[in-house]
Amino acid sequence: MLNSKINDAINAQINAELWSAYLYLSMSMDASAKGLKGVANWFAVQFREEQDHARIFMNYINSRGGKVVLTPIAEVQTEWASPLEMFKQTKQHEEKVTALINDLYALAASENDYATMNMLKWFIDEQVEEEENATDMIDAFDKVESNKFGLYMIDKELATRQYSVPAPLSTQE
Ligand code: FEO
Repeated sequence: MLNSKINDAINAQINAELWSAYLYLSMSMDASAKGLKGVANWFAVQFREEQDHARIFMNYINSRGGKVVLTPIAEVQTEWASPLEMFKQTKQHEEKVTALINDLYALAASENDYATMNMLKWFIDEQVEEEENATDMIDAFDKVESNKFGLYMIDKELATRQYSVPAPLSTQE
């Protein structure tokens, strides 16, 4: 059974995840309206991922005998000056979400709720990925907007190089 403090805190996190979903859907729609199909797709996927995050928390509350309470989702921005601005805001927002997840983990620890701490570990790892994805996109659009797209493409190609053991060494221990 979940204690009410943890239940309330997870309900607040569900709202934050759904607000994130709404924010990214808004970015997707703005990109669509401007003919940026790729950017629109990236944020449409992000929209789905955020709904999944909310769902994971909802399932968790239900499995622990708690009660999910859905509260209003605040309005979101509807217009961005460029994809770079969208991704900068995405990074800032994900850093905030990371702080929320950390607070939730600290609360669970203070309440000796080991199951909740365990469940949150997936989110702690996920936030590292969320921040990294946003940083990668900022980097890409930064290079495009500062006319360094060639550098970006070469760098991307170099990132695919993989080490392989030369044949004469492949049978050695
Ligand atoms: Fe649900 Fe983007 O963190």
